[in-house]
Amino acid sequence: EKGGYEHFMLKEIFEQPKSVHDTMRGRLLVDEGVIKMAGIWDHIERFKNANRIIIIACGTSWHAGLIGEYLIEEYARIPVEVEYASEFRYRNPIITDKDVVIAISQSGETADTMAALKLAKEKGAFIYGICNVVDSSIARITDAGSYTHAGPEIGVASTKAFTAQLTILTLIAFKLGKHNGNLGNADFMSLIAELDAIPKRIEDVLSSTHELVQNIAKDFVGATNFLYLGRGYNYPAALEGALKLKEISYIHAEGYPAAEMKHGPIALIDENMPIVIIAPKKGHYDKIVSNVQEIKARKGKIIAVVNRGDTQVSAMADYVIEIPETSECFSPIVASVPLQLLAYYIAVYRGANVDQPRNLAKSVTVE
Ligand code: F6R
Repeated sequence: EKGGYEHFMLKEIFEQPKSVHDTMRGRLLVDEGVIKMAGIWDHIERFKNANRIIIIACGTSWHAGLIGEYLIEEYARIPVEVEYASEFRYRNPIITDKDVVIAISQSGETADTMAALKLAKEKGAFIYGICNVVDSSIARITDAGSYTHAGPEIGVASTKAFTAQLTILTLIAFKLGKHNGNLGNADFMSLIAELDAIPKRIEDVLSSTHELVQNIAKDFVGATNFLYLGRGYNYPAALEGALKLKEISYIHAEGYPAAEMKHGPIALIDENMPIVIIAPKKGHYDKIVSNVQEIKARKGKIIAVVNRGDTQVSAMADYVIEIPETSECFSPIVASVPLQLLAYYIAVYRGANVDQPRNLAKSVTVE
């Protein structure tokens, strides 16, 4: 049932062109210029009148939530907060019936997320779910929602569920923005056309980077630490890249907003520190160039994820992974794919149990 792949994780990484497509199926109607999401549409007044949206999740789903914040604030101009479920529930948060809560959970069974939702519900918030597992506990207590339809995710490290969550959040942001007038028709039309082509972009990245990333991984089997850096939409993508590596390879890794480097982590950089830097053309590129210069000056080993045809960052990097250029909001989806592969191959070469890493469970039903 691994479809010829050595592990479920690799199979699921390679399924992403299809899973992202499945997430959009019946929802993104490019020719008609429409995003159809009954869960949003049936409650559009709740979203329209929301004081703010609070996104609640754990782990990888929380990383998707951070990108959701960038998307919804940019395109729909609704204030968004992103909370770890475990922190939210224990800190006596301020919630009112004017709040909309979006819960993100692959399994739909995460205990902390569930408890946070119950609390928000008691206080009258409207609860919207983004779950992968149909009829899961979280899906059942929400007022409305959208399933990600990524198909069963067996590997403990979340991959295709993450990109499916990003796809749903993108659809929501565009739909709300179009409806409330913050996203003009021309921009909406060109963004949805680009979104429609994302499965092809993922396919392209899988075939053009697979071998290369495998080779890069060989050079880092003995690494003890990694830093992942990104800015804007790719800051959460850096967090997610680091989480993937640490959970399956057991190498310590940290994700940081690139500009925060100078406030501490730069002290760690020497010739033994591998640094993955996500630096697509659109999205603070010039700022990233100067971050890379600072790393280079301290002899860090730079693995750069850049757009095809990139010159400035590539010239300084030790390893260059090229991805196709997209609007900034789509770059975390495309950039995450080679980072999943990098974590996967480093873990495989270290002989780790990729699909079932030590100490981790697929659904965390304990608090
Ligand atoms: C990371 C991972 C975990 C989960 C987290 C939340 O690869 O799988 O960090 O993302 O436990 O799980 P769900 O999304 O099922 O609520």
